Amino acid sequence: MPPVERSLIILKPDAVQRRLIGRIIQRFEDKGLVVAGMKLMRISRELAERHYAPHQGKPFYPGLIDYITCGPVVVMVLQGQRCIEMTRAMMGKTFGYEAAAGTIRGDFGSSRTYNLVHGSDSAESAATEISLYFSPDELLDYAPADSPWVFARSEA
Ligand code: RTP
Ligand code: MG
Repeated sequence: MPPVERSLIILKPDAVQRRLIGRIIQRFEDKGLVVAGMKLMRISRELAERHYAPHQGKPFYPGLIDYITCGPVVVMVLQGQRCIEMTRAMMGKTFGYEAAAGTIRGDFGSSRTYNLVHGSDSAESAATEISLYFSPDELLDYAPADSPWVFARSEA
């Protein structure tokens, strides 16, 4: 079976302000992913700069820091087989106007910056990002009763 992965997901300030928290989380739950940790918080500039360090120096960086710190966000860790690949596919392309219909950004977004959701893009970035937002005791490892029907045991 593919290894169980964890990914850091952020419902960005526009998602919270537009009252889309429930609808976005619903999509991830419908897919079979499990919420291993979750909190509502305001990201400090210091934390934002650590999170988006790979983008430092890019033209959009100052606006990105302003955006992610401008209001409350929901930060969560999702867990499941192929979690990173699946959540990235569900988010859609970075810019809402380019994202395919059926994706979160494609269905709810039209902007370049205000794109509703963040998701880790690799196992390495997931590990780094999760440690920025959660301590180990804030994450719970559990398997819902229907897990054997979501992730088939027989699959290689
Ligand atoms: P994220 O990191 O937020 O999950 O988004 P992503 O992987 O799809 O996109 P990334 O390239 O990592 O960019 C991070 C965020 O910066 C903003 N952005 N603006 N050219 C631009 O104006 C531009 N490019 C990126 C977006 O908010 C993007 O999510
Ligand atoms: Mg990214």
